[in-house]
Amino acid sequence: PRPILLTRHGESRDNVRGRIGGDTVLSDAGEIYAKKLTNFVEKRLKSEKAASIWTSTLQRTIITASPIPGFPKIQWRALDEINAGVCDGMTYEEIKKNMPEEYGARKKDKLRYRYPRGESYLDVIQRLEPVIIELERQRAPVVVISHQAVLRALYAYFADRPLKEIPHIEVPLHTIIEIQMGVTGVQEKRYKLMD
Ligand code: G3H
Repeated sequence: PRPILLTRHGESRDNVRGRIGGDTVLSDAGEIYAKKLTNFVEKRLKSEKAASIWTSTLQRTIITASPIPGFPKIQWRALDEINAGVCDGMTYEEIKKNMPEEYGARKKDKLRYRYPRGESYLDVIQRLEPVIIELERQRAPVVVISHQAVLRALYAYFADRPLKEIPHIEVPLHTIIEIQMGVTGVQEKRYKLMD
């Protein structure tokens, strides 16, 4: 069985400020995670010559992958974070205060709610289809460095979790979710590399 390693990017400067979306670089803690992830991947995939690292096209995932030597890195736009449209760059507090209808509508149906000029979780799930097909085809391990909403959807696919749970699945920062696909089904391990 070959592992798929799922992880969010290291903490970004926008994460620290509570802003969604954007395209910032990492915080100091995020930079430390990039190094810890590198050590983990080097050990875990030492003899896996055909492994590859997949990121989104956003800086925070590319920078998180950058210290990892020796494996090809592939950028997928389909791995970019959910597009928050007009709310991109806002905090949840700001959305609640300035756009209460939007805030309420999302709270009521987070799976189907589509940000104005942005995406819904259902949109994200749909755009992930080519990534999932390619992940299923791979024989070698893949490290996927992406974002919370996207990883919720990917994880739910492999862990066979129901659609309605997807927007609420816990995918914490600085934690690797290892998925092993074997003949007897899917096994999962979580490695929390830092707080
Ligand atoms: O920036 C977007 C978040 O990663 C997605 O979180 O869907 O729980 O608001 P949320």
